[in-house]
Amino acid sequence: MKYLDGMGALVGQVSPTAAGQLYAEARQSLAGGVTAGLRWHPYLGRPFYATRAEGPYLYDLEGKRYLDFNMANGAVLLGHGHPAVNRAVQLGLAAGILTASETEHHVSLATTLCRVIPCAERVRFAVTGTEANLVAVRLARHVTGRRKLLTFAGHFHGLAEPFLFRAAEGTGSDVPVPASGGVPDTYGQDLVIVPWNDPDAFDRALARHRGEVAAVICEPVHYNAGCIPPLPGFLAHLRQRTQEEGIVLIFDEVLSGFRMALGGAQEFYGVTPDLCTLAKALASGLPLAAICGRADLMEHLSPAGPVAHSGTYTGQLLGVLAARATLEALESPGVYVELGRRAARFYDEAQSIFDRAGIPARIQGLGARFGLYFGRREPVVTWAEAVASDEALHRRFVLGCLKRGLYFHAYLGLPGHAGFSLAHDDDCLDHALNVIETVARELARQ
Ligand SMILES: Cc1ncc(COP(=O)(O)O)c(C=O)c1O
Repeated sequence: MKYLDGMGALVGQVSPTAAGQLYAEARQSLAGGVTAGLRWHPYLGRPFYATRAEGPYLYDLEGKRYLDFNMANGAVLLGHGHPAVNRAVQLGLAAGILTASETEHHVSLATTLCRVIPCAERVRFAVTGTEANLVAVRLARHVTGRRKLLTFAGHFHGLAEPFLFRAAEGTGSDVPVPASGGVPDTYGQDLVIVPWNDPDAFDRALARHRGEVAAVICEPVHYNAGCIPPLPGFLAHLRQRTQEEGIVLIFDEVLSGFRMALGGAQEFYGVTPDLCTLAKALASGLPLAAICGRADLMEHLSPAGPVAHSGTYTGQLLGVLAARATLEALESPGVYVELGRRAARFYDEAQSIFDRAGIPARIQGLGARFGLYFGRREPVVTWAEAVASDEALHRRFVLGCLKRGLYFHAYLGLPGHAGFSLAHDDDCLDHALNVIETVARELARQ
């Protein structure tokens, strides 16, 4: 069976069982039937197959349209296939796609980032958020001459060895344990994991590891737990204590970047880290990441300094051009006021719907991304609370929404996160609220 033609999607020309057939076929060649582990949708029991996406919408193999509340795991903030981004990519195609040379566009994008991202005095590009975080940590280890990395429970920095650990709860040890097969536990000896939003636990960990910690890395808004903002003063506390201890503070803004303010969480909360990493929304779906930070730190990167960083696809042109177009669109006057207005209305109304229907659920969002927690109404402030969410209720909610054309992704065993884009106008959000109300009432009846 043919699913795609050269021009795009064969929407509406495949059988109703197309997804099941394609998944069966996929399992013959793709390991586990998927390209990436988290693409497997635990509630569908298979991946979601899309034929195309446009603005706020996704289309499946049968041509059914979904209002997308995943938006490529947060990589698309302007809306799918934004015309300015498409035009930028066309320019890159005409310029030869990849020459592995520097261009004026790289300089222009770096200049813009230095203007809009508070900590950015110098910039380097990378391909993925994971790679950017690895480079930031390498840099911090070099400049401090220390090895240890302090992270926060549940914060996600990519699927690479230094980050693939979880706190060793209940083992009587504070050495983290691997969260994946194939990861040597020796990496855990360089890692300290403390709870988010707990300044006393943070201070105790710094005291225990005084003089050993090279970097503190965090998601300044813990979106990989849905959405757990920092408690008032928590980021400032991290800033002050790391400065006192000569530790490099890294904000992983791969998800929070551009989400609630052009300068990301660091602008929104007024706390400037030493380094930050960006990816996802930066290039509207093209693979591009950035490491930004203080010039005196960044100038240790090769060739000026001894810290290795390079790569065939580093700063690939299509991503750089897409990022320039993205930033230009995000810099239009009023964008973040409008985004904030839509977000506040959507979260308030969705919460009222759950409350009126008598469904124990909490929606917690900041900017264009949010978490849905079932089984509770109180604010979620810790990772432990986020993972304790009622998965059975979440599953019924997500399946009810999918049936009615709202797409929510789900992440196996994780709280996950959802979000919308600037292409989700008031009409889209009203439609989503109507569907959420129908599903909430149905859950209440059951
Ligand atoms: C906060 C955060 N950091 C890092 C990463 C890894 O980025 P990538 O998937 O581009 O490697 C992610 C991906 O979801 C993320 O959410």
